[in-house]
Amino acid sequence: MRRVLVCLGARCKPLNASISAVTRKKRIAVVAGDGIGKEVIPSALEVIRASGAAVEFTAFDWCADRYIADGTTIPPDGFEMLAREFDAVFVGALGDPRVPSNIHAKEILLGMRFKMDLYANVRPVHLLDASLCPLKNTTPDDVNFTVIRENTEGVYMDMGGTFKLGTPEEVATQEDINTRKGVERIIRFAFEYARSNGRKKVLMSDKSNVMTYAGSLWQRVFKLVAEEYPEIQTQHLYVDALCLQMVREPRLLDVIVTNNMFGDIVTDLAAALQGGLGIAASGNVHPGRTSMFEPVHGSAPSIAGKDIANPMGAILSGAMMLAYLGKQQASEKIENAVLQAVREQKTTMDAGGSLGTRECAAWIADYVAKH
Ligand code: NAD
Ligand code: IPM
Ligand code: MN
Repeated sequence: MRRVLVCLGARCKPLNASISAVTRKKRIAVVAGDGIGKEVIPSALEVIRASGAAVEFTAFDWCADRYIADGTTIPPDGFEMLAREFDAVFVGALGDPRVPSNIHAKEILLGMRFKMDLYANVRPVHLLDASLCPLKNTTPDDVNFTVIRENTEGVYMDMGGTFKLGTPEEVATQEDINTRKGVERIIRFAFEYARSNGRKKVLMSDKSNVMTYAGSLWQRVFKLVAEEYPEIQTQHLYVDALCLQMVREPRLLDVIVTNNMFGDIVTDLAAALQGGLGIAASGNVHPGRTSMFEPVHGSAPSIAGKDIANPMGAILSGAMMLAYLGKQQASEKIENAVLQAVREQKTTMDAGGSLGTRECAAWIADYVAKH
C-alpha cells in the first residue's frame, strides 16, 4: 500500500501510547443503535473477526426501540461502566423518527462524547479511488487530509434559553462555549497528530471576523501552541473559505483543527469528497482513555432495513479502533481490503457497485481472512 489510508489507522502511531499491543484481549462495547446502525455494525464486526485481532465484543441494546419500550436511554452508571470495563466503544448511529426529540441520541451519543470527555473527534478524509470523487480530475493524492473537530464544547453544550416562548416577541439564545482549556487541548492534539503522522501543516478554521470573542481565544491559543511545533507550518482560513478550498483545491489541505459545529458541517462536505457518507470514518478520542469509534453517517431511516447501506464507514471506523488499541496489523489488513473492494467495485450502490450491505462486508471479510 502506498501510504496511510486512514490516519489514526494502520500505519499511524497509536495516539494512546498507554494502550500497547499486549496479550490480553481488548474489550469492546458495541452499540449498534438505530436504523442502518443495526446493519453496518454487525457487518463491521464480521470483518474485525476475520482479521483475527484479539478482541471481544459485548453488545448493548441502547437505541430508540429500548427507549420506546422502557424509557432507558443509557443506564445511570453507563458511562462510568464503559470507561471502567472496556478498552473502546464501537457505535453505529442513533436517531429515529419515532423519537422526534432525539433525546436518546443526545443522551447516548453526545453523552459519551461529553461525559467520557472524548475531546478530539478525528475524521480522516481520504479518497480511496478517483471513481468515488464527485470532483473532476481528482486523484486519491488530491484528497488526503484529516479534520480534528473539538468534541466537548461550543454550541453543543446546549446552553441558552428562551424568553416570551411562543409569542410574536419570542427571543431564543444559543451560547457558543469556548474554554481556554478546551481550545488549547484540541489545538495541541492537532499538532501532536500532525507530528506523529508525518503531516506538515495544521490549519485552524474559525469565523473570527464575526464571532470575535471566541475567535480571539482560538487565534491567540493557536499562535502560542504553534510555537512549540516549529517544524509544522500553520495556516488560517475562515470556515466559509475553507469550504471553498475543500472543493476547489483539497490537495492543499493537511490537518485541520476547528470547533465542534464547524467540524460537524465541514466533515459532511469532506465525506462527499471521499465518496459519500457511507465511507467516512471517525474516532472520538481522549488519549489514554476508553475512546469511541463510529462512522460519520447517521441512522439513514429511509434506507434502513433494506440491506443497501454502505458498511465501509463502519468497517474503516473499526480499523481506526483497532489501530488505537495497538492492533496495527489487523487494522492495516482491513484498510487494504476496503481499498481492494473499492478498486474491484465490490461495493454497495452508493459507491458505484451492486452488492448489498451483507455481501459487501462478506467480500471484505473474506479478503481480510485470505491476506
Ligand atoms: P444520515 O447520515 O443518516 O443520512 C444522510 C444521507 O446519506 C441520506 O441520504 C442517507 O441515505 C445517506 N447515507 C448515510 N449513511 C449511508 C450509508 N452507510 N450508505 C449509503 N447511504 C448513506 O443523516 P440524516 O438523514 O441527517 O440523519 C438521520 C438520523 O441520523 C437523524 O436522526 C440524525 O440526528 C441521526 N444522525 C446520527 C449520527 C450519529 O449517530 N453519529 C450522525 C448523523 C445523523
Ligand atoms: C455527527 C452527527 C452528530 C453531531 C449529531 C447526530 C448529534 O451529525 O456525529 O456528525 O452533530 O455531532
Ligand atoms: Mn454530522
